[in-house]
Amino acid sequence: MAKLHVNIDHVATVRQARRESFPDPVEWALRAEAAGAAGITCHLRVDRRHVQDQDVSRLRDAIGTRLNLELSLAPEIVGIALESRAHAFCLVPESREEVTTEGGLNVRAELDRLTGVVPALADTGAAVSLFIDPELDQVRASAELGAMFVELHTGRYALATGSAREAELERLQQASMLAMELGLLVNAGHGLDYENVAPVAGLPGIEELNIGFAIVAESLYSGVDQAVGRMASLIREAETTSRNHPSS
Ligand code: PXP
Repeated sequence: MAKLHVNIDHVATVRQARRESFPDPVEWALRAEAAGAAGITCHLRVDRRHVQDQDVSRLRDAIGTRLNLELSLAPEIVGIALESRAHAFCLVPESREEVTTEGGLNVRAELDRLTGVVPALADTGAAVSLFIDPELDQVRASAELGAMFVELHTGRYALATGSAREAELERLQQASMLAMELGLLVNAGHGLDYENVAPVAGLPGIEELNIGFAIVAESLYSGVDQAVGRMASLIREAETTSRNHPSS
């Protein structure tokens, strides 16, 4: 069954809006775990717009599940990651201008830099994932590089409607099937919310869903317990439905 990993970046966004010590993403993460999160994800960006360096070490020390650290190939951040003792790393593209991670890594174009970084991160004992668009050639390049996981970017799926959404779901399914054939484990995330999560959670073989913004936003209305708990049950239900109706 797909596990829910909750991204806490935007708890830190609220804190950084006032450079305060609260809301504390670590405390929020502990509540998320108690409500059913199987892992906690954060992205240490070069511009430190939300998560700060000490959040990473505090999360690693405090949480009882797994810490997945998202990072770009910036040498400073890679250095911090290597010392972080995170259980998993997800390499993502990053640009200062973007509001959020806009597309996946171009693994082919970045092959040289990735070849330097992926084995070093893997040598810490962590699982290493590459955040890619659901494109078959990116999946092949990720397998050639020897990554353990790919995380499929669900942003285009999340923004699409009607038949375009069906087409995006099909792309995700094709990419995940090829990844599994090539021996990769498959995660997915970005832009997933309470309304669009079920079809992705129902895809065969998805290990982890990384979901942040929708859960943090919902927690402002209903609290962390409800916001995480409701997402976790939607994922569970989607899995059961797809097991009972495998071809739908
Ligand atoms: N996965 C990756 C690799 C991401 O960069 C992000 C955004 O930080 C997410 C998942 C979560 O996206 P969202 O906040 O839209 O749920």
